[in-house]
Amino acid sequence: MIALPNRRATLALARRLAQALVPSDLVVLVGGLGAGKTFLARGLLRALGVPEEIAVPSPTFTLENEYGPEEGARLPVIHADLYRLLGGDLEAELAGLGLRDRRSAGAALLVEWGEDAFSPLAGDGLLVHLELEPRRATLRAEGPRGEALRNAAEIE
Ligand SMILES: Nc1ncnc2c1ncn2[C@@H]1O[C@H](COP(=O)(O)OP(=O)(O)OP(=O)(O)O)[C@@H](O)[C@H]1O
Ligand SMILES: [Mg+2]
Repeated sequence: MIALPNRRATLALARRLAQALVPSDLVVLVGGLGAGKTFLARGLLRALGVPEEIAVPSPTFTLENEYGPEEGARLPVIHADLYRLLGGDLEAELAGLGLRDRRSAGAALLVEWGEDAFSPLAGDGLLVHLELEPRRATLRAEGPRGEALRNAAEIE
């Protein structure tokens, strides 16, 4: 468990994750509305090198936004928000989006509302559960890359 009493603490967590992130990593962000999923993802992308001049909007409406060297990111990242897909045939929707394929091709995935997508996206990753009262993150690692990311996240 990592206490996140203020935005600075969340940004520090984002930086630790960014330092450890490698191509094809999976980070799933779960937690209720306003828990800070997009804030954490944006911090992570900034820490990967995306400068302030480039907007990092919530992917709620676009479903996904992609970042790469052109945006300043040191590795390709897809920031997705599956909220609008919940309740539907998630596996089919995910197949349609091609997230798993692009992960295999090297894109790291940051997936909001992605708890049910963890296995369909091929697992081996970190699940970050953000809570509001009190603000904190609970981490669940699956597989070697999940463990590596959790270890990096937990270093104070
Ligand atoms: N550790 C923190 N302490 C205080 N405020 C925070 C913290 N982390 C994030 N916030 C603030 O919480 C607000 C909501 O965050 P954000 O939009 O990231 O939530 P979300 O989980 O993505 O919500 P949604 O489910 O609607 O997409 C933002 O204004 C952000 O600045
Ligand atoms: Mg969000």
